[in-house]
Amino acid sequence: MFSAISITEKKQNGESLSQPEIEFIVNGYTAGNISDDDMSFWLKAIYKQGMNYEETVDYTCSILKSGAQLDFSHLPGYVVDKHSTGGVGDKVSLILGPLLAACDCYVPMLSGRGLGHTQGTIDKLETIPAYRSSLSLPKFQRIVENEGISMMAHTKDICPADHKIYALRDVTNTVASLPLICGSIMSKKIAEGIQGLVLDIKVGNGAFMETLSDAKELGKLMQDVGKVYGLSLSTCYTGMDQPLGNTAGLWCEVMESIECLKGNGQDDVMSVVYHLGEEALKLAGINNPEERLRKALSDGSAMDKFRQMVKAHGGSLKSLDNPKTHKPLFRQEVRAETDGYISFMDTLNLGTGVVHLGGGRLQKKDVLDPTAGVVFHKKIGDFVNAGEPLLEYFCSDKDKFNRCKLYFNKAIQIQSQLTDSTELIYR
Ligand code: URA
Repeated sequence: MFSAISITEKKQNGESLSQPEIEFIVNGYTAGNISDDDMSFWLKAIYKQGMNYEETVDYTCSILKSGAQLDFSHLPGYVVDKHSTGGVGDKVSLILGPLLAACDCYVPMLSGRGLGHTQGTIDKLETIPAYRSSLSLPKFQRIVENEGISMMAHTKDICPADHKIYALRDVTNTVASLPLICGSIMSKKIAEGIQGLVLDIKVGNGAFMETLSDAKELGKLMQDVGKVYGLSLSTCYTGMDQPLGNTAGLWCEVMESIECLKGNGQDDVMSVVYHLGEEALKLAGINNPEERLRKALSDGSAMDKFRQMVKAHGGSLKSLDNPKTHKPLFRQEVRAETDGYISFMDTLNLGTGVVHLGGGRLQKKDVLDPTAGVVFHKKIGDFVNAGEPLLEYFCSDKDKFNRCKLYFNKAIQIQSQLTDSTELIYR
């Protein structure tokens, strides 16, 4: 007979775990037979000691088997998805999902909530009044069939184990672990029943993988696990040494995504959108991918897909046209103290600041503030005069607002000389 404590001790001693032991932990926690405390010890042991390849495959498979696996093989088009390992200001899914659907792909996207210092796609979508992010599987499938895209969270029916473990990792500092990230992402993606997957592995001071070599190790692991399940995978590496786009937060990122879908997106966001989009359309065997993507954006069909999806999920379309749907009660600018060029952005600190403003959870039961976020007026390489605004942060809870200045006041550094710009896309 196993126990969570003895399995955890085995891992703490550096031993590898067997398939039945891993399944015992995953199933036991999902069923409520293993407590949050015991599961936290197990996660911390994995975080510290890691897992070998076989353990990672077994872990992914256990999460996958905790719920249903979808089948979209009857659909007339390519079934594809995109997933990011997480970053600050990373709103790409909100733009690229509808864009791929507008290029005749089918996109059954299971997305995540905030994790660590990063903000989650589902938390952002849920700021759209009445948007339902936990649908029954038949409803999710119907929306994918009819609209080409549905974006929802893992539920009690699909990857319920990730649903629970993800929430616990978020508040126990156990996010940045190769096997835990691999198991969480790949189980969801395999359960979706997709044919192709584009992975956006973020690299930099605001990513869970700070170096390209760590990111590549994660990419290789996910490629190998994908192969076991016959999934075609394109692994991309993009920079997270500064936030992506000009906002980070909840409602403000939905508003920025809508501007991107209208053709008014910032260059950095759109470069990543096109890069990943081209990879997805190549997997689908679609010719002239860049042209196809640009057309779907400029003729409004990607925006139409986004609105159709929001409507199908019960969300308010009127809110999408009204940036003031969520209006923060408190706002503060941070201004430059000297003239010079922006040389460094502490992206981890900026993301952590957004979490503390109410854009993420410090405890599992925390309720999010849709108004929480930041607007960046300057990015790395920009020149700034003393007194000019660098960024503005906002939320609607006075105590949180007052406590957060330390995350924003010193997060941006200025130098007199222009320094090398940071990498956006590692080709
Ligand atoms: N996205 C996920 O779904 N899981 C992770 O662990 C990290 C990013």
